[in-house]
Amino acid sequence: MSNAPTEETVLEVEHFTDRLFAFSITRPSSFRFRTGEFIMIGLPKTEDQKRPIMRAYSVASPAWDDKLEFYSIKVPDGPLTSRLQMIVPGDTVLLGRKPVGTLVLDALLPGKRLWMFSTGTGFAPFASLIRDPETYDRYDEVIVTHTCREAAELQYSQRLVANLINDPLVGEMVVRDDGTPKLKLITSLTREDHPLTGRITTLIETGKLFEVAGTSPLDPETDRVMICGSKEMIDDTAALVDGFGLSEGSNSEPAQYVIEKAFVG
Ligand code: A2P
Repeated sequence: MSNAPTEETVLEVEHFTDRLFAFSITRPSSFRFRTGEFIMIGLPKTEDQKRPIMRAYSVASPAWDDKLEFYSIKVPDGPLTSRLQMIVPGDTVLLGRKPVGTLVLDALLPGKRLWMFSTGTGFAPFASLIRDPETYDRYDEVIVTHTCREAAELQYSQRLVANLINDPLVGEMVVRDDGTPKLKLITSLTREDHPLTGRITTLIETGKLFEVAGTSPLDPETDRVMICGSKEMIDDTAALVDGFGLSEGSNSEPAQYVIEKAFVG
């Protein structure tokens, strides 16, 4: 079988800000992935290119969906995103064949509470995981954090979580029988006013995060963590999570937390 990417059709494109957009493409019936994994995405090569430029993207849609959704940054001079941000329905996007990644439920040991810390487009893999029933089967409580610079950048995550209650598959799982939420989204901003301001690292360090979430601090016995953002965000957040006594897991050696870079810069 060829390893070449498949040619898929753009179905929808939505622009949120001049830095962020989301798009969906057709999904080949043979394309299987584990919720939370990433895949190479590209555009057909132009005449002056030897081969297409491909970049890693976390799949933002759930594994059961018949289309594939992605959440992307727009970089004005970015080799891929400068062109990708122009796509419209009907255009062709290239899709790699081998999804991989560590932000998967199987890379974590069983626990009670799952935290997902994200900044910017680092929310993408969590958009997939919070739409997967298995996430709620495995944990009593699921808390996603999304930190951005300004309010407009929270649109995608806030709308997705608000709509989950109407989701035919997980709608009943995001709220407990007593009406309390099983899934919580905690948003914070760093460059605009908001009910909660500050970097995720600051919120962890000061304990404000646990106060807002109504939980105790991270406990290696009960808490599991997934982290996705820029390299610096991951390094800084992982160091704090380490400090609570959690250790990093992988597909081959599940443990208490896992990390992944939000790839496209
Ligand atoms: P800040 O505004 O203080 O830079 P970006 O859009 O640049 O990827 O940033 C997304 C969010 O991640 C911003 O709120 C940004 O805060 C925050 N951020 C940037 N670097 C770090 C870091 N090292 N640790 C935690 N958060 C970070």
